[in-house]
Amino acid sequence: MKVAVLGFGTVGVGVYEMLKNAPALEAGPVLVRPGKEDTGFKVSSIAAITSDPEVGAVAEVMGGTHPAYEYVSAALEAGKHVVTSNKALVAAYGPELAKLAADHDVAFLFSAACGGGVPFLHNIALAVESDRIKSLGGILNGTTNFMLDAMQSRFMSYPDALAEAQALGYAEADPTADVSGLDALRKIMLACAVAYGQLPDEGLCREGIESITADDVNHFQSKGLTCRLVTSGGLSENGSLFAYIEPVLFPASAPECSVLKNFNMAKYDGENAGRIVLMGQGAGRWPTASAVVRDLCDILHGRRIMMKPDCLRVAADNSSCAHSYYVRLPESEISRLPVEKAECFEGVARVITKPLSVLEMHQIAAELRKEGGSLFFAALGE
Ligand SMILES: NC(=O)c1ccc[n+]([C@@H]2O[C@H](COP(=O)([O-])OP(=O)(O)OC[C@H]3O[C@@H](n4cnc5c(N)ncnc54)[C@H](OP(=O)(O)O)[C@@H]3O)[C@@H](O)[C@H]2O)c1
Repeated sequence: MKVAVLGFGTVGVGVYEMLKNAPALEAGPVLVRPGKEDTGFKVSSIAAITSDPEVGAVAEVMGGTHPAYEYVSAALEAGKHVVTSNKALVAAYGPELAKLAADHDVAFLFSAACGGGVPFLHNIALAVESDRIKSLGGILNGTTNFMLDAMQSRFMSYPDALAEAQALGYAEADPTADVSGLDALRKIMLACAVAYGQLPDEGLCREGIESITADDVNHFQSKGLTCRLVTSGGLSENGSLFAYIEPVLFPASAPECSVLKNFNMAKYDGENAGRIVLMGQGAGRWPTASAVVRDLCDILHGRRIMMKPDCLRVAADNSSCAHSYYVRLPESEISRLPVEKAECFEGVARVITKPLSVLEMHQIAAELRKEGGSLFFAALGE
């Protein structure tokens, strides 16, 4: 199958090179911006690809929602299979594109958009055919994991850990999507869409790592705890979908503590299979390209669907998931929380709460910040 590649950047170059060595696949034309067609295999018009009868599939690795949405739609309408690594595109337009693919009897797969080289969506798509997934999630952002690991193992400050992540190419010049949790939240949206046929795009709770300090990390270490940024999704007992991201504190025995540097750890709980854990590189040229090529090989084996064509957009309900939380906040604000125990020093309180719902904790934090207060919170994990 000849594969056209849209975008010739970090992932695009990797996909193109891998296609040249994949036995059942062939590298086709590559879409670049006008003026950048410096060799014979590069084209600058999507029509040159959609009208090429030899092209059987398109790998979209340009990023962004526009014109990626228009180009992917045109490819599907022209009867080409599509594989993408673009989480922003699938989070915004996944249901429309999945329906378009089904209408034209072609594939729309997006493993690389969640977990890079870690075959998370690939395995969820297989698992739902034979099992019921009770919950899913994990450490799905390598940049923030690198920073939290550097703060704990090398006692770095937040700004220094971020600067090192940027210098190593793990964090972008504008790191907001990573450190605010948005990047990983989009991934859990996609994972829920694959597992449950429901894309949660409202009611999501999001807490990143922007408020953590070296003092917080020192405090956790003194208690034998390790902080990780964790996404969670699943079905509550009342049948509603929950989806959120927040820092979590783990005891040394937890597998999350062994996820170091920029690695990812994705997991799901199957009703029959039990807990399945996948660990590996969540980003980078070759891991991400390998996921794109794996999807293309899956198409050759007959797989067409990752997100069902009737996938619904739903609001997440995070009111029935409850944990105890660690909260660092001004001592004067302690009465806002259901306190289990507290340590106070020089006007700063470090509180362990009684269990409260994810929704309540995120609402309390939002209210306090709106009033100008500063805090950091993390759930207590198992
Ligand atoms: N990098 C990773 O580790 C990774 C991991 C998982 C998923 N992803 C996803 O993969 C996608 C690509 O990421 P990347 O890191 O490869 O980005 P990148 O290095 O910035 O590459 C994107 C390429 O697409 C090109 N492009 C953008 N818009 C275009 C247009 N309208 N027409 C033609 N070419 C266009 C860019 O060209 P210009 O340089 O001319 O702008 C650039 O060459 C993103 O959706 C990203 O979220 C990346």
